[in-house]
Amino acid sequence: MYYAKNASSLEGSATLLYTARAASMKAAGADVISLTAGQPDFPTPKAALDAAKKAMDEGKTLYTPSMGIMELRQAVADKWSKVHNQNYKVENSMVSCGAKHSIANMLEVVVSPGDKVLLPKPYWVSYPQMVRRLGGITVFPESQGMLITGDDIRKAAAAGARGMILNSPCNPSGLVNTADSMEDIAAAVKETGIWVISDDIYEDLYYGSGKVPHILSADPDLRDQVALITGVSKTYAMTGWRIGFATANPDWIKIAGRIQAHSTSNPCSISQYAALAVVRGEAEAERIHMYKAFRRRRDLICNLLDGVKDLEFEKPEGAFYVYPRIKTDKKVNTENFCIALLEKGGLGTIPGSAFGNEGFIRLSFAASDDDIVEAVKRLKDYLERGDFI
Ligand SMILES: Cc1ncc(COP(=O)(O)O)c(C=O)c1O
Repeated sequence: MYYAKNASSLEGSATLLYTARAASMKAAGADVISLTAGQPDFPTPKAALDAAKKAMDEGKTLYTPSMGIMELRQAVADKWSKVHNQNYKVENSMVSCGAKHSIANMLEVVVSPGDKVLLPKPYWVSYPQMVRRLGGITVFPESQGMLITGDDIRKAAAAGARGMILNSPCNPSGLVNTADSMEDIAAAVKETGIWVISDDIYEDLYYGSGKVPHILSADPDLRDQVALITGVSKTYAMTGWRIGFATANPDWIKIAGRIQAHSTSNPCSISQYAALAVVRGEAEAERIHMYKAFRRRRDLICNLLDGVKDLEFEKPEGAFYVYPRIKTDKKVNTENFCIALLEKGGLGTIPGSAFGNEGFIRLSFAASDDDIVEAVKRLKDYLERGDFI
């Protein structure tokens, strides 16, 4: 049987793999704590549940327009106009089956086979695979820092990169570009004319002061070459509802809409009504409660990790991940490290190799305080045993 080259060379999602492995050991009765999760450990807010029930009772269970119901597209355009001081209209926005789907659609519009796409490192696990699926070529920044610079963009563009995916707050590092670094990036994007997909899925989980720095705040005139990706998954504990949003120039959205019309059609009608409720602000109390819990747990895990001498890390300013580097002179294969840590140390984590960095591990603090405390203890004990090579 012949399988298409781009499809058959795709790699599986390492985050899903390690999460599933920890979950199956736990289900089999093993004493395992998992800090692998990429999702809030809270229930979906009641306003979303009520809106979904109402939608079902009212028979809103058939096809919707394939780009999403008008009320939701309008609410998305209004909300992100306000956030970014723009005047997006319905034709600037589109609803898909999760932010992952939004990114895949938007990429498909701008990547032809052989096109180069710049991916800052560490990158979210799906970006390289999404680019390669389209026959695109992934390009990584020259500088070794944890955040991309304007010069990295200029060099990549000079070598042929047509666009980039920006993700701040970043999964896996939790790091956030400062306002100055966003200005540096925006200047290079303007100069080079590349497109940008700004994956803002963690924008509401920002622990710094004021508004999270953004490329469109640095330069609002870039709006036609920047696509915003947002959603309800992380902010509102709605990962299973599969709703994501793209906001961009009307042509980019129109073509992405055609791709969606010929692939999935509309995202789940019931989920769209649930998302409408939260985007309109009906779950603010729960959103703030979750945000505060994540901020407090960020401080908890960082304080605990400060006491682990074999690790070094930058304190995350957003999302719900911390990304320490294992300090050792020995060469560590982090995949083997994470498997052994799970099997011998009873702790599930994700290896940095999944995000383009060897030597790092990702810990999610979307977990209870007790689990965080016990997890760091297990990690410390495991490192102190020193048998991880
Ligand atoms: C950086 C990043 N972008 C996009 C997504 C996808 O979000 P969704 O569940 O809405 O598809 C995730 C989920 O883990 C993510 O971490």
